[in-house]
This record gives sequence, C-alpha cells and structure tokens, in this order.
Amino acid sequence: MSQPVDLRSDTVTRPTAAMRRAMAEAEVGDDVYGEDPTVRRLEEQAAEWTGQPAALFVPTGTMGNQCAIHLQASPGADVLVERESHVYLYELGAMAALSGATPRALDGERGRLTPGAVSAAVSPDLYYMAPTRLLVLENTHNHAGGVVVGAEHQNALIDEARRHRLAVHLDGARVFHAAAASGRPLPDFTSRVDTVMFCLSKGLGAPLGSMLCGSVELMREARVIRKRFGGGMRQAGIVAAAGLYALEHHVERLADDHRRARKLAEAVAELDPFELDPAAVETNILIADVRPGYDAGALLASLRESGLVAGPMGPGRIRFVTHLEIDDEALERAIATLRRVSRDAGPPVT
Ligand SMILES: Cc1ncc(COP(=O)(O)O)c(C=O)c1O
Repeated sequence: MSQPVDLRSDTVTRPTAAMRRAMAEAEVGDDVYGEDPTVRRLEEQAAEWTGQPAALFVPTGTMGNQCAIHLQASPGADVLVERESHVYLYELGAMAALSGATPRALDGERGRLTPGAVSAAVSPDLYYMAPTRLLVLENTHNHAGGVVVGAEHQNALIDEARRHRLAVHLDGARVFHAAAASGRPLPDFTSRVDTVMFCLSKGLGAPLGSMLCGSVELMREARVIRKRFGGGMRQAGIVAAAGLYALEHHVERLADDHRRARKLAEAVAELDPFELDPAAVETNILIADVRPGYDAGALLASLRESGLVAGPMGPGRIRFVTHLEIDDEALERAIATLRRVSRDAGPPVT
C-alpha cells in the first residue's frame, strides 16, 4: 500500500534531501555565546525579509509569541486577542502563566478583528482598571481556515492600536502565505508591527524554528527572555541552515499549496457529508463542516483506514492542510479517497 496522504497540518513535512545536505554542511558555533554564523545569517535574512531592524531565532512559534508578549505587556495588563487565535486557544494560558497578563478575547469576523472592536476593548485611563498594553494579530488565521487579513485591514487595526498607544504583535506563523495569496510583498504585513513572529516549520518545510523580528532594542531584550524561557540554543546553526534553505527555496512554491487547497475544496464541497464554500479557501488550510446526520469522528477514521489523514478541528469540523509533501498526484489520491469514503458513508442518519 502506498504512503498515506497526510493533510493534518503543514507541520508534518520532513526535511528534503537538499535541506538535509544544507544542515549537514552548516557552519556552527555556540549561539549562547553569539558564535554561530549560520544563526546570525538567518537572523539577518529574517530581518531583511520582514523589513524589521533585527531578528531572533527561537525554537518554536509559541516561544516567539510569548517572548513578544512578555516584552510588551506588564503583569496585570490586558492583551487584546482574537477569540479563536492561537495565542488564546492553543498556548496553554502562557501569557497569564509566564507574563502575568490577562487576555481580552474579542470576536472576529472569520478571524478578522475590527478597529471598532479594538477601540471598544481598550481600558479607559483609570487607575483602578487594568491598563491595555498590547494587541496581538494573527495572519493568516489558522482556526478561521487560513484566512488572510488583508494588508489594508491590518493597517487599519495597527492605526487603531497606535491611537490608543498599544504595542502590536503579529503572530505570523503563516504570514508568508498571506503575502503569497494576496500578491503583496511580505513587508506590507510585517514591517509596521512592533514585533512579528513567523514559522519556518509551517509550510516552509524546516524541521523546527521560528523567527521573532522587531527593533534592535526589543530583540536585545528578547534574547534575554528567550534564555529565561529555556530557549538558549548552542550549535543551532544545524537547524538555522534548514531555515535559510526554506527561505531560499520554499517560499515561491506556496502558491502551489494554495492552488491545490482550492482544488481540494472544490471537490470536498461536492460531497454529501461536507459543507464548505470553496471561495472562502484563500491559502493552504481548509476547514469543512460535517453536515448533521454524519459523524465526523467516523469519517476521520474511515479516511485514515483508506490512506488519508485529516485532523479534527472542533466538534463537527475537519481540517485539511496542503503542504510541501502534497504534490498533484497525492492530491488526486486524496480526492479519490474522499469521494469513496463519502459514498460509502451513505445517506445522513436523521
Ligand atoms: C497561528 C499559529 N501561531 C503559532 C503557532 C505555534 O507554533 P509552534 O507549534 O511552533 O509553537 C502555531 C502552530 O501551529 C500556529 O498555527
């Protein structure tokens, strides 16, 4: 039997042979002493790509987000977040646990906040109210289905935050996808925020690693926080080399992932058990609702048995993500499997 098609996440990719060669050949040193030339090079590249003055290599996206929050929100302060954002749902209360900050969750429209919602959530300047310090944005928005927050919309949110003297952090785990999908240069999304985190391990195909970018001063402080959080790494050039390789070779191809996700969405939308608007699929993530009368858990199990692995995304929702290891042939296999399993599922149980 051929390899299963794994559409759970764009994090499941394994380094290609060429990426492994780049890793094996990387020049390394002790990065806690600031002596790893490959890490330095990656940090310079990340700063250049994002249009920020400086960057810091961190092992995970979560650590990058939490360093940014720690730096820009004081204990007892409020942090404005979107209700379905990664920092709110999937970082285990880290901003409270590590920084003493309180998330204020705001409702977005498919992941997009409005300037009005931001403005309304800022505390008045009263000594007996928690000060609002930071706005966290996410682009693309994972839980909403890879939604792009357009550059103009994001700018309006940044402007609103500035009016209230809030710092702005962008969780740009997949911000390269936002740029690719909207045909805009990356800095249109990354240069105006105070800090931005992007992931090398999501869609770009590196085994691990994320970049936190911002001012020289903030990144100097972030280096201290990273060490305190246990993220000081030694010969990290081995993995930084994978990141450099990913930036050089795996950015342009993101458009292929988006094209394939749209094709998959068009196929899924025609199948009885699923409900999905293919036009809403903008990048590499598609989330399908499972219609009443069908059992999402049973569908996932049948798909897996038939060689297609997808992920649950809350009750009655299934997520499919295209990535580096999904070529046209794998996509066709996925579509054929979905058609077969949907047919075998029979009519809905009412
Ligand atoms: C939008 C978003 N932000 C942050 C992260 C965290 O990244 P990591 O798993 O590297 O901590 C993820 C992970 O999937 C994500 O999807």
